[in-house]
Amino acid sequence: MAAATTMTRAGRRTGRGWLVVACAAVASTVVAMAPSAGARPSHPSAHAGPATSVIPKPVTQTMRHGHFALTPHSRIVVNAGAAAIGADLAARLRPATGFGLRVASGSSRPGDIDIALDRRAAVPGDQFAEGYRLDVRPAGVTLRAATPHGLFNGVQTIRQLLPAAVAGATRRPGPWTMPATHIVDFPRYGYRGFMLDIARHFEPPSAVKRMIDEAAQYKINTFHLHLSDDQGFRIVINGFPRLTSVGSQGSVGTDGRTMDPGGFWTQRDYRSVVAYAAKRFVTVVPEVDTPGHNNAIIMSEYDDTANPLLDGHPQDINCSRNNPPKWNFTGDVGYSALCPESANTWTILTAIINQLSHLSPGPYYNLGGDEVPATTLSQDRYAALVSREAGIVAAGGKTVMGWAEISSPGTRVPPGSIAEYWNPASGSAAGTETATDAVAKGMKLVMAPANHAYLDQKYAPHVPANIGLTWACNSGCDVDQFYNWDPASYVSGIADDDVIGVEGALWAETIRNRSEAEYLAFPRLPALAELGWSPRVTRTADSPAYADFLGRLGAQGARWQAAGTNFYPTPEVPWVLTAAAGTPRTSSDHGTSRVSGALATVFAPGVAVADVSAVVHWGDGSTSAARVTGAGPMVNRVNRGYAVRAAHTYVGRRPGHITVTITAAGSAPITVGVPLR
Ligand code: ACM
Repeated sequence: MAAATTMTRAGRRTGRGWLVVACAAVASTVVAMAPSAGARPSHPSAHAGPATSVIPKPVTQTMRHGHFALTPHSRIVVNAGAAAIGADLAARLRPATGFGLRVASGSSRPGDIDIALDRRAAVPGDQFAEGYRLDVRPAGVTLRAATPHGLFNGVQTIRQLLPAAVAGATRRPGPWTMPATHIVDFPRYGYRGFMLDIARHFEPPSAVKRMIDEAAQYKINTFHLHLSDDQGFRIVINGFPRLTSVGSQGSVGTDGRTMDPGGFWTQRDYRSVVAYAAKRFVTVVPEVDTPGHNNAIIMSEYDDTANPLLDGHPQDINCSRNNPPKWNFTGDVGYSALCPESANTWTILTAIINQLSHLSPGPYYNLGGDEVPATTLSQDRYAALVSREAGIVAAGGKTVMGWAEISSPGTRVPPGSIAEYWNPASGSAAGTETATDAVAKGMKLVMAPANHAYLDQKYAPHVPANIGLTWACNSGCDVDQFYNWDPASYVSGIADDDVIGVEGALWAETIRNRSEAEYLAFPRLPALAELGWSPRVTRTADSPAYADFLGRLGAQGARWQAAGTNFYPTPEVPWVLTAAAGTPRTSSDHGTSRVSGALATVFAPGVAVADVSAVVHWGDGSTSAARVTGAGPMVNRVNRGYAVRAAHTYVGRRPGHITVTITAAGSAPITVGVPLR
């Protein structure tokens, strides 16, 4: 009864420790905030983030002296293989810098970013053809890679080397500098995944595209879409209109608790998401969970007696505990199942598999396979269904993927199929056999143990309020729990080359919108991104690797605030106090001149606006306090950037710039220069 696991997402309780780790050291130009740590030393200068804030940590990075400054005259010089990547970088830099950077071919000049696809730039040891070489010198930036994917990865690093405000849509004066550095980089694993459940709670394509961008900047390259579950079926399947007209209408909570309407994507919507992801070198993996987790399919097709593709008696698809089936919009699991003996089951599943496989250019089709208790479907019948389905997937040219129960006794899946290990069990504890059985059957593993990789779990008891589950993390799973484990040695008897990567899974029973999804995903998804990309090192709560990661993670908060990405400003992370110059208004009148408006924006994750203050040095010997305005923090929503506002009248000439000194609770002051036009 291996498939009939007694573990359920709703029911399992495992307790792992939750450690609070002291803050890491702080880089020179910004200040890390720690709620209980008091003021820290700093050398305020202005703009650049810590020199080593790149996530995932590059394989090798050497710091050099000086900075490169992007100016309106910089060009992005590309060869033929780099034209699309160069245009994409120019577009991404435009909103915040205001620079219409020219994308040009030919030789680069001082001040340019030179990007070239170059077979000779292949990085030794890079098995997945994703590596890149990046040189940042005061005179210019050079990015080389042997593949377009490698160039894309290098561009993500360039973006992180620029000041945090580059992630925003507000035009600012800069300066747009990058620390001089040399990076040679490539991934540890070829599969670095993010799974989003749009079945328990529906999200439109626009929200999913945005989340693909948010993940891709950390070199996540796989987006696993959980398209169907008991509460909803989310994509049009030609020939089966009831799958969406009936099956998509609900979500968790629809029946009278918290109203959360359903929804579905057309195949055109799906194609547009796949194409959007592909431009970011992200592969979409479709999942329609079977034979369990599919009450929405059963409720849609059970009565579909007039469907000419079915035999007039589709009731025989239902092997659920309820006969007739009935809607259940709670988070219950394990009660629904399709019958392997029904020809109608195979007509429906073949249409789903073939259409989604056709729409998905990536190598994988995920058939689900989790949480079917033997009391719902016997192990023999479970194995029969999974085996036959695996054959259909393989015949359609896709690699079979599923939750690790698809390795359970009796299943026949092609060697090279992928089992996603989600059980929290480690070592050789009960539950790990789904991983070892998978390897014994010639399968590869994606590691997503729930207590280290389930993004739907709470960070701490009662945090966040109202959202998040606790079954895998009853004492909380904050950043340390997501970072401090090793995918290759988590289960005994598994070798590193049995593992193809890691995945963060964001189940949606408790979430109601993208903002809540982001609040759970960040800052934990970047921890998994680093585990998937960066070389294997000892990662424990008191390891140098973790301290280093926390320091780099602390610098991401300002980027997310600038970009409008929600996140949980956990006290585990020494969030970096950051300021970006604004563009105050200036006017002159009869020998006086006036400066007013927003002088700067302050990014202070987790710090209330009342605890931030600013003083302006006007450059004529006078200083005055500024107003700091903005909202926050709010429930399940990080505070946004705060505006620093002040006005001043100069008699005679005004200076070319002013400085603003900002103080936030828990950190030393920082100073930002603001040019006056
Ligand atoms: C799962 O969490 N049931 C894959």
